[in-house]
Amino acid sequence: MNRRTALAGVLALTTGLALAGCSSSSDTPDLQVIGGFMPQPVNDMAAGFLVVQNHGTGDDRLTSVTSPLSDDITIHETRDQVMRKVASFDVPAGGELNLERGGNHIMFMKLKRQPKQGQKVSVELHFEKAGAIEVDLPVKETTHNPKKQ
Ligand code: CU
Repeated sequence: MNRRTALAGVLALTTGLALAGCSSSSDTPDLQVIGGFMPQPVNDMAAGFLVVQNHGTGDDRLTSVTSPLSDDITIHETRDQVMRKVASFDVPAGGELNLERGGNHIMFMKLKRQPKQGQKVSVELHFEKAGAIEVDLPVKETTHNPKKQ
């Protein structure tokens, strides 16, 4: 979300509150996770990709990820082909968070097992407001990229 959109959202919210009095549901995120997958890992590290859509009226934030596959899971962004750990990813109201090849991703280190193509990896996404959302990531071939099909 850019600054202008954020400001418009704040103004709309303020107006809405003034008209409606008080509405506790006016800043509630409504999250849906789609398109998740994990490329079959070739060593003891793996990446996870997915899209989080926010159909609600409140911003949210992805703060951490847990999974039985690994005790060392972080969220990374990629800039100039270098990846870097981040504390959180924004999931703006009416927008989405894209974790995709070459960009933001979930990083699994020290894998406890080697997931194979066709299997599923259970992960729990932790959001600041929406709480935990559990999703199964299907394991795809190592080079899988939905944007190149
Ligand atoms: Cu990474």
